[in-house]
Amino acid sequence: MSEATSIDSQAANWWQTDIIDMRPGEIRYRGYPIEELIGRVSFSDMVWLMTRGELPSPEQAKLLDAALMSAVDHGPQAPSIAIARMAMTCGGSLNNAMASAVNVLDDIHGGAGEQAVELYQAILVRLDGGEPLEKATEQGLASWKEQHGKIVPGFGHRFHPVDPRAPRLLELVNEAASRNEINGRCAGIAREIERQLSTAKGKPIPLNIDGATAVIYAELGFPAALARGLFCLSRSVGILAHAWEQQCQGGRNKGPMPKGWLWDYRGQSQRPVPER
Ligand SMILES: CC(C)(COP(=O)(O)OP(=O)(O)OC[C@H]1O[C@@H](n2cnc3c(N)ncnc32)[C@H](O)[C@@H]1OP(=O)(O)O)[C@@H](O)C(=O)NCCC(=O)NCCS
Repeated sequence: MSEATSIDSQAANWWQTDIIDMRPGEIRYRGYPIEELIGRVSFSDMVWLMTRGELPSPEQAKLLDAALMSAVDHGPQAPSIAIARMAMTCGGSLNNAMASAVNVLDDIHGGAGEQAVELYQAILVRLDGGEPLEKATEQGLASWKEQHGKIVPGFGHRFHPVDPRAPRLLELVNEAASRNEINGRCAGIAREIERQLSTAKGKPIPLNIDGATAVIYAELGFPAALARGLFCLSRSVGILAHAWEQQCQGGRNKGPMPKGWLWDYRGQSQRPVPER
């Protein structure tokens, strides 16, 4: 092999991908020419094609779309949205605001769907092993808490006693299951977790948007880690809208609280700096 050929093949092998093939005048995603996809394939279909390798069935696409649209926004009380708006008032541009906001979609806000999928999958294994739903959930929760602590991902809400998005999403899952498009077992698991947590606490610990979208992502066969990525895609829509609105409003240097409000200072009372 000549030196030039060897360098060419090293360059060609530097990145390997099954996603996109491209040469001058030609773009193909997963084998499909872009000009055939444009106008025939929706954004949600494209999310599926890119992450899963094939186009979804219309039923799969409908459920994915419902999950993606349901989590786009939760107002400036949500850290991701507040951060986007604050970033804009610091002179940032839309890309900075979006990156800052997406960075906080982690284990406790927006990213909990990843662990929720893992939890549902762990309980599914128990169901497959023949345990009834109540026991499988009880054992699954106990084992989760032993490994990760008492807070169960995808459940609980600072604001909503019942998160209005969750029952509607589960209803769609039930409808799809009744048509045998999915099996619907993760919806049953989520309901049982909610029941057990609320009974144990003596107050509602509702299935939240992370947990409800995780039901759909798990039912559709997305790996757990992708549930977090999909939530980021979804919330990015609200983040963009709020960042843009804030830019149009033109506020400057807004912090998380109105300037008349101060935090709870718990440190030393005033004291002189010692001689050094
Ligand atoms: C969202 C969250 C931060 C709200 O917490 P919160 O404001 O403290 O919730 P509440 O005031 O309604 O309830 C507090 C009590 O319920 C318990 N609780 C709340 N969520 C719980 C959960 N997911 N699992 C178990 N217990 C929970 C708390 O431990 C607390 O009990 P304590 O006072 O004995 O410590 C919390 O529910 C949580 O971390 N959930 C998991 C992460 C998640 O799903 N995030 C996505 C949010 S949309």
